[in-house]
Amino acid sequence: MEAAKILTQLEKEDFRILSAIELGMKRSKYVKINDIRFYSRYPIEETLYRLKKVHKFDLIIRDSSGHDIAYTLNALAYDLLGLHALVRQNIISQLGPILGKGKESDVYSCIDDNENIYALKIYRMGRRSFKNIKNLRDLIGERSHLSWLYVNRLAAKKEYESLKEVYSLNLNTPKPIGYNRHMIVMEYLRGKELIYYKSIDDPEYIFDHIIDQVRIIFQEAGLVHGDLGEFNIVVDEQGNILIIDWLQSVKSDHPNSRYLLRRDIQNICDYFKNKFHIESNVDDIINSFLVR
Ligand SMILES: Nc1ncnc2c1ncn2[C@@H]1O[C@H](COP(=O)(O)OP(=O)(O)O)[C@@H](O)[C@H]1O
Ligand SMILES: [Mg+2]
Repeated sequence: MEAAKILTQLEKEDFRILSAIELGMKRSKYVKINDIRFYSRYPIEETLYRLKKVHKFDLIIRDSSGHDIAYTLNALAYDLLGLHALVRQNIISQLGPILGKGKESDVYSCIDDNENIYALKIYRMGRRSFKNIKNLRDLIGERSHLSWLYVNRLAAKKEYESLKEVYSLNLNTPKPIGYNRHMIVMEYLRGKELIYYKSIDDPEYIFDHIIDQVRIIFQEAGLVHGDLGEFNIVVDEQGNILIIDWLQSVKSDHPNSRYLLRRDIQNICDYFKNKFHIESNVDDIINSFLVR
């Protein structure tokens, strides 16, 4: 990853300038030099010197169309700020190869000082589409200045919090380790997504196991996944089920929760019917969820 290489060449003053731009971006997309100077608390010479350096590394975008020159962070700069913070907090120490690309994220492997392996999920919404912004509307509220930076940060926070809630149920879901900005660090799973299994030893058992987990998460945590399917369920060699990708989850008191719960279960039933000829009844399953 290019970011890892740049990371070693930046000094703390460079990060301070990037953070200053980030601060300014809360108010407007482009931040004027004078404001960057203010937020960084550096003298103007240092500010200009650092701006020139990070610009050379292609981390900021310049706007000289207005009266004052202004800058905004690009996605790489935001990645570096997040990675830098995670390293400083001793959550991770080194980045490894990419594990997977999801619909709206890149997932990398990484390790900490004790050589524990983790997965680092970096949100990249807005890269291809803003489809999921609608789902984040609840979180964003009426804030009009809706930058990609803010949206991805909210997404990471939301998924981190859902992961924590689900993890507390002891169901073998990935343990959340930490988060910063638009990235979350979680336990690494040595399995593969359901969709990549051509055959399964005991599909009936796996099906029941998945439905059981969905039920426990619904009953105990009051949470509905909202995007459940063969892509977001990892199965390991021992037949452990690990449900990932909690961005779109809703609380059971959310107006859409019943609809989403039904859709989640329908997806699982359909998949196991088409691929493994397992018959099930969605209504019976939902009803069994509602009586305790
Ligand atoms: N904790 C993890 N350990 C190992 N691989 C992971 C982990 N989390 C995600 N991945 C890989 O990254 C892919 C994308 O992650 P996911 O959370 O589903 O993101 P998206 O919301 O972009 O679909 C997954 O399909 C999986 O291959
Ligand atoms: Mg996914």
